[in-house]
Amino acid sequence: MSDGLENVVAAETVLSDVDGLAGRLVIRGLPLPALAGRVPYEAALALLWDGFFPDLPDDLAPALGAARRDVFDQLAPHLAAAADLPVFDGVRTLVSRMEDGTSLEAALRLVAAPAVAVASLLARRKGLAVRAPDATLGQAADILRMANGAVTDEQALGLDSYLVAVIDHGLNASTFAARVVASTQAGLGSSVLAALGALKGPLHGGAPGPVLDMLDAIGTPGNAASWIAAELTRGERLMGFGHRIYRVRDPRADALNAAIGRLRASGAVDAARMDLAATVETTALAALARHKPDRPLQTNVEFYTALLLEALGFPRDSFTAVFAAGRVGGWIAHAREQAASGRLIRPKSRYIGPVPREAA
Ligand code: ACO
Repeated sequence: MSDGLENVVAAETVLSDVDGLAGRLVIRGLPLPALAGRVPYEAALALLWDGFFPDLPDDLAPALGAARRDVFDQLAPHLAAAADLPVFDGVRTLVSRMEDGTSLEAALRLVAAPAVAVASLLARRKGLAVRAPDATLGQAADILRMANGAVTDEQALGLDSYLVAVIDHGLNASTFAARVVASTQAGLGSSVLAALGALKGPLHGGAPGPVLDMLDAIGTPGNAASWIAAELTRGERLMGFGHRIYRVRDPRADALNAAIGRLRASGAVDAARMDLAATVETTALAALARHKPDRPLQTNVEFYTALLLEALGFPRDSFTAVFAAGRVGGWIAHAREQAASGRLIRPKSRYIGPVPREAA
């Protein structure tokens, strides 16, 4: 038995490869730096989905834009009820209204749904008019336009870089959940809902909000060392550090840091916040190296996710839903791959309960 299935290979995939020792993420033969910040989300989606849908067009942007419009029409009557829930739960509730099919059309609607849902719920919460999607925009630009009422080119590129950076990442917990469900031959909607449930937890996609809570609690660079030391002494984990696979820096952290750098150059970033984050990162890495000398703990994607999404105007309780809007493309590719070639996933458990007694 392997607790947490660590080092267990449970699927063969052509989709992505995570090399935790070299700090390298490869998506269908391309290293992440060749994709994040260089191609739009729609192109990364087409790359991942190639071969998994018979009728895949070369350019997915028009079809995804049209799917956003359709999904918006379908979800608009249900926004008010979903708005009473925490953002992630509201998004999951809205996504659950999607058809549980396996066609390209069903898949595109499932990619459109988290984007439309989170943007519409955020606009409502800000008291803005809820705007219908603009099918001529890319997914990233449209999310920001719908959520904030306006979007600059730099912001659109920042979110696009993020959505591409998180689109797929080996057999992480939410992707595994999607594959387990797909292995039963259930529809793509069921896989996506299972994956959303797995993504929500703070050990997976729920960490970036708490990263900002940590920065707020530290307050100024001068407090970083004492705050971090006290946290580790209490046995707490520092959010945004450590990873099951990476023993070196997460390559997605660099992709997101580059996106933050571009935004900073355009003046759209709070420089004091970034300086505080830089001090916290350096101090945390040094403290973790002393605290766990045998376990290399490095900065993970969530640390920079928190900084980038905050700079783009997303409230921290929406970060995990924005993550879902990117990762959903990977979940669907894995679900298709599993359903096409994998067997029913059905591991065994070892019974450690009481020894059975004979019936009297
Ligand atoms: N801060 C302090 N200590 C840590 C941290 C951390 N961030 N991460 C791991 N450790 C410690 C553990 O307490 C453990 O100590 P122990 O052996 O005394 O119990 C040791 O390092 C090994 O940790 P594991 O739990 O074996 O590491 P695992 O691979 O299971 O966990 C995880 C990886 C969940 C990401 C962990 O590092 C963590 O909790 N980090 C903080 C939360 C976070 O940033 N989550 C986002 C992950 S990225 C993503 O999912 C997209």
